[in-house]
Amino acid sequence: MSPWLSPNRRDFLKFLAASPLLAAAGLRAEDLIGSPGDALNVFDFEPVARQKLPPAHFGYMATGVDDDATLRANRDGFSRYQIRPRRLIDTSKIDTSINLLGAKWNTPIILAPVGSQKAFHPEGEVAVARAAKSKRHLQMLSTVTTSSVEDVNAARGEPVWFQLYPSTDWNLSRSMVKRAEAAGCPVLVFTVDQISGSNRETLKRFMKQDTRDCRVCHDRSSLQTSNRRRPMFDGMDLTGVGFQPPVTWDYVKRLKDTTKMKLVIKGILTREDAALSIKHGADALVCSNHGGRADETGRSSIECLPEVLAGAAGRVPVLVDGGFRRGTDIFKALALGATAIAVGRPYLWGLGSFGQEGVEAVLDILTRELQLTMRYSGTPAINNITRAHVIERTL
Ligand code: GLV
Repeated sequence: MSPWLSPNRRDFLKFLAASPLLAAAGLRAEDLIGSPGDALNVFDFEPVARQKLPPAHFGYMATGVDDDATLRANRDGFSRYQIRPRRLIDTSKIDTSINLLGAKWNTPIILAPVGSQKAFHPEGEVAVARAAKSKRHLQMLSTVTTSSVEDVNAARGEPVWFQLYPSTDWNLSRSMVKRAEAAGCPVLVFTVDQISGSNRETLKRFMKQDTRDCRVCHDRSSLQTSNRRRPMFDGMDLTGVGFQPPVTWDYVKRLKDTTKMKLVIKGILTREDAALSIKHGADALVCSNHGGRADETGRSSIECLPEVLAGAAGRVPVLVDGGFRRGTDIFKALALGATAIAVGRPYLWGLGSFGQEGVEAVLDILTRELQLTMRYSGTPAINNITRAHVIERTL
């Protein structure tokens, strides 16, 4: 029986105790949280997801590229900045709301686009949309979603932002953009950091541990068959199509000319590209290295953020993702000048371990930690958080 479906924790622990993966991961069954409410922080969800998910699926989520140096840098980068709290300011009421591209959100914490979420829970992106609805967070939906944009929008109760990977077939990309637009999505997020491919060795190592026959679900004999569980490709002829096309900045103009949706460019890491994005019409940027799973730059996104902000020069909002696990991480990014931050793996750990409830718990924990950090830093509202609230470590 799938551990997701077992109503009985004792059965679940027995299942875990018998699992060779438990020992391989250096974990004891009794250390794992049994319900979302037991979590002290978002990290507590990861080992549960690791135990519940098939190794190849967990590996897909966990992987970085090459030596996973950029993945680790994303966490380490936060220690480069330290918080300067201010005292004797009334923080009895905390307001985490922000304005972003003409809309007001209760929180700067956004759900990053991640593909194939049914690999982590049978309800996939729909469970995440329900959690985003109940906790009122902005959700971005991946091109390679395993739930359709229409179903996700219905579950979210309002249209999400749609993320686009470019393809060699303009008509295919165009029709996907038009489908997202027709579904009411107000914003298109164009991801520009997967165009050259990526070397995901950790994924390959996890796949070797998986004793199941992956071909039962994943028929990789053609692009058509390998995308058959991805509803955004329904009815599309993928013969000869490639998803690493030689696109350049002209593509941004093409997208702008094609849709009325606002355009966000995701995957920007330098001052120069921030400036070029705006020159080509971007309405916002995401400073992102794709969670360390695109290129092995060795540089964290929080360390790239100051130069991306400098390139943007206050003309458009700058969002950032990569390694956010704590309220203090979020606070530091906001203090450096980000308008909002996005999380990926933490909500997938929640999804993989407890479905919608797990995602909700992760969002609650991050929110609670951010609120506490704002309280002790003397910043009752997001716009009270300034550059003076962080200092760069000198040692
Ligand atoms: C998709 O966005 C991935 O990183 O695998």
